[in-house]
Amino acid sequence: MPTIYKMLHDDHEKVTSALSKILDSSDGAERTREKLFEEIKADLEVHTRFEEEEFYPQFRKEKADSEAREEVRDALSEHEEAKTMLDELSAMDKTSDEFIEKIRELKEALEHHISDEEDEMFPQAQEVIDEKKAEEMGAHYQSLKAD
Ligand SMILES: [Fe+2]
Ligand SMILES: [Fe+2]
Repeated sequence: MPTIYKMLHDDHEKVTSALSKILDSSDGAERTREKLFEEIKADLEVHTRFEEEEFYPQFRKEKADSEAREEVRDALSEHEEAKTMLDELSAMDKTSDEFIEKIRELKEALEHHISDEEDEMFPQAQEVIDEKKAEEMGAHYQSLKAD
């Protein structure tokens, strides 16, 4: 059973690599772009929902200090920004320059968010959340992703 941290990390890699593939695609590759974009949207939806409903609350509860509250507050507002960008992207012509520009913006924003999680929040979470709970979250996340 992979840990919840490994599973969230794998999602981060998958999403950033799909964003890079869109940036590398030609303007004529409309179907490829649409397919990659739909995958990114679906992956981010299950990922951010799990973080918001399960992982962040557990982290905030276990760490129980103002640093954790602030980290979670920032993370939630970054999720909202990403959701707004995804909505804007959904409405755009996938062959347009504005679509590619917005994908680039989303990738930069997510890279910043991911490094906050992986370099700061996850190491702190590993200190305060016991292994059994981390395994339970991993198992629950796996079952959500399998649906
Ligand atoms: Fe994440
Ligand atoms: Fe996140």
